[in-house]
Amino acid sequence: MGFLDDAQTMFDRGVSAAKGAVSGVAVEQQAFAKGFARLAADGCAQGWHEGNGGNLSYRLAPEEVASCRSFFYDNPSSWVPMGVRADNLSGEFFLVTASGSHLRNVALDLDANAGIVEVGPAGDAWRIVWGFKDGRMPTSEMAAHALAQSARKEATAGRSRVVYHAHPAYTVALTNVVPLDARTFTRTLWKAMLEAMVAFPSGVGVVPWTVPGGSAIAEATAEVLRDHAVCVWAHHGLMCAGATFDEAFGLAQAVEKAACVHARALMMNGGGDRFASTIPDEGLRGIAEAYGLAVNEAYL
Ligand code: 13P
Ligand code: ZN
Repeated sequence: MGFLDDAQTMFDRGVSAAKGAVSGVAVEQQAFAKGFARLAADGCAQGWHEGNGGNLSYRLAPEEVASCRSFFYDNPSSWVPMGVRADNLSGEFFLVTASGSHLRNVALDLDANAGIVEVGPAGDAWRIVWGFKDGRMPTSEMAAHALAQSARKEATAGRSRVVYHAHPAYTVALTNVVPLDARTFTRTLWKAMLEAMVAFPSGVGVVPWTVPGGSAIAEATAEVLRDHAVCVWAHHGLMCAGATFDEAFGLAQAVEKAACVHARALMMNGGGDRFASTIPDEGLRGIAEAYGLAVNEAYL
């Protein structure tokens, strides 16, 4: 057998090994898990995740659940009540960051810093089926993720899968100086830069200061997310949702960029918001028409 034959044999072996592995690709190697870890790392690169700040959830598609099942624990954890109920999440599986995990570590050690939970038949409890090594637990914002996932699943006919919570500084800073009603907050961001309305035509809703981690912030957030893809949490951060990791991350980027532009304009203007120039109201309508956006009319 010559060199080329040897090479062919090696290649064939490699292919059959790869084929064999396709039915058992480790959870960490699956595309959705890589996208999850990448978003966590990208959010850290933006400076949005000091310490354990922020968290992330992803609703698995049925084929992703099927390709992960062989890696699930033989004995899942017992059911843990969520404190909220979402009928349309019954039987769904979510990859979720662990409470206390630093998002910069998610890509390095996924099954310690995140895990997969299954939602029970009544949509009001979860159990761990994979990951959360060493006794870790899902994020303290699990109730908010559940109700946010539920609201966006409903609002998008099932397209939405990613819910992302981050602590971007300019967005948080604006909640100290801009009135917290959704119309004012949205128009402030839309008028800061063209791309804002293009990125979030449904606008942003705002939840006033609320103690995190409980059912109150979860319910208030879900109410906002029924007709917005982004919810700002005053003096805390934002929660946004998308069909893909790119969509959810891009939304957070656009909100934070617009907040940054507005904040810098305020600083350059001596703190006042009467600017020499701004996008006029007709300009907002013009953007909506030019881009064919499904804009929230109440904010025009
Ligand atoms: P967790 O570490 O429990 O996810 O909490 C972080 C956070 O940002 C709470 O709002
Ligand atoms: Zn937070």
